[in-house]
Amino acid sequence: MNNTGELCGYIRGIIGAHHNLFPDYAFAEKKFEPGVTPIPVSGKIVGFYEIDHLIEAIFDFHWTDGSFTSRFESRLARAVGTRHAAMCNSGSSANFLAVAAVKEHLGWKDGDKIVTTVCGFPTTLNAILMNNLVPVFVDVELPYYNAEADVVIDAVAKHDAAGVFMAHTLGNPFDAPYIASHTVVIEDNCDALMSSIGQEMTGAIGIAATQSFYPAHNITTGEGGAVLTEIPALDKIIRSYRDWGRDCWCGTGCDNTCGKRFDWQFPDLPIGFDHKYVYSRIGGNMKSTDLNAAIGIAQLKRLDLFTSQRQENFDRIYGGLKDVGMEEYFILPEPTPHSRPSWFGFLLTIKDEAPFTRNAICRYLQSQNIATRNLFAGNLLMQPAYRGLDAPIFGSLEVSNKIMRDTFWIGCYPGINEEMCDYMVEIISNYAQAAARLKANPNELYCE
Ligand SMILES: Cc1ncc(COP(=O)(O)O)c(C=O)c1O
Repeated sequence: MNNTGELCGYIRGIIGAHHNLFPDYAFAEKKFEPGVTPIPVSGKIVGFYEIDHLIEAIFDFHWTDGSFTSRFESRLARAVGTRHAAMCNSGSSANFLAVAAVKEHLGWKDGDKIVTTVCGFPTTLNAILMNNLVPVFVDVELPYYNAEADVVIDAVAKHDAAGVFMAHTLGNPFDAPYIASHTVVIEDNCDALMSSIGQEMTGAIGIAATQSFYPAHNITTGEGGAVLTEIPALDKIIRSYRDWGRDCWCGTGCDNTCGKRFDWQFPDLPIGFDHKYVYSRIGGNMKSTDLNAAIGIAQLKRLDLFTSQRQENFDRIYGGLKDVGMEEYFILPEPTPHSRPSWFGFLLTIKDEAPFTRNAICRYLQSQNIATRNLFAGNLLMQPAYRGLDAPIFGSLEVSNKIMRDTFWIGCYPGINEEMCDYMVEIISNYAQAAARLKANPNELYCE
């Protein structure tokens, strides 16, 4: 065996022989047995593309961030329509880096306020807290699951906030273009890669945006994340915080990119102290690796297909539930006006008057092998980590409290096929109708 191509062929043979896995488009061909085949909410879809790229990166022997990472970064930036993308090791790290870098770039001070939703993923909020900023909480609205743009703008004005950091909930865009015309916006785009609003892609609207590539997300690199921005100076700060807080911007294994490695002068440092070892920020090591990036390069080739499959699955489930009258029991999710979401999942909120609870229906779905998830943490302020947090709340949190009680989501990711969509619709509607019949006639079950 004398080259990577031969090795890839050999490994393909082993995988194919032993696992019947990874045909290059794994899930579409999977046989579905209703009630037996599990329907997950999310998952990675990978094939030989990913294996080939990974093997190439292994035999490149670089293994930290290098040429695969640079290639992934530039292709990701191109896909979203931004100038820069800095890959890091998770969406949560990306959130931290984005807020730290924007804070420095815009001269925000400790204690400055940032508007965010109370209903969401914890590390959006944690990035604000860990950067010594103060969250101002706003509620979200149904059926969009995002904060209303005018409420956000009023909250910014009332609290003299420096900016806004929130997620496009489960892929559904918040009105970032409108909010960004009033204040600084950082987008948590972790769940919304390839969503758009108006003529703009989410992730390319705010001053910075973040992505996650954990397997549940639109594409995966195993673990991974990225921070996107248009602004070269901001990208440099993001990379500095990511790479130990160093001042030098040489890529791994490169020296003297600035052309004056031994000629810099910093207060208190010896004149000409090696720039590679000058630390101008208190940073960490949040880099990813070429192995992760290689998988990401392969995944990007599938991105358009993934996006259209998510959208098609969403439309099929939505149409199915509507056709069988499920709006009587559920608030069905709607795209934010003028948006085209790449849906992360299909959200359902049980109406107040429905004859069943969230736990009851989720338990039943689980018994039928249909996975469900809550909308992350629900009202974050009710979570143990944030009890007693001293932060302002703008308006009531009524909707987030309802979501905490009554909302769940099912999958619409590309591993779910049409049969699975139809089965989920059938099981949900059977359950809801049986519960309604039982409520109307409590003796019915005894008669059967
Ligand atoms: C909206 C949002 N932001 C951030 C994250 C964190 O991403 P990661 O798991 O890569 O840290 C997630 C994770 O699912 C998320 O949904």
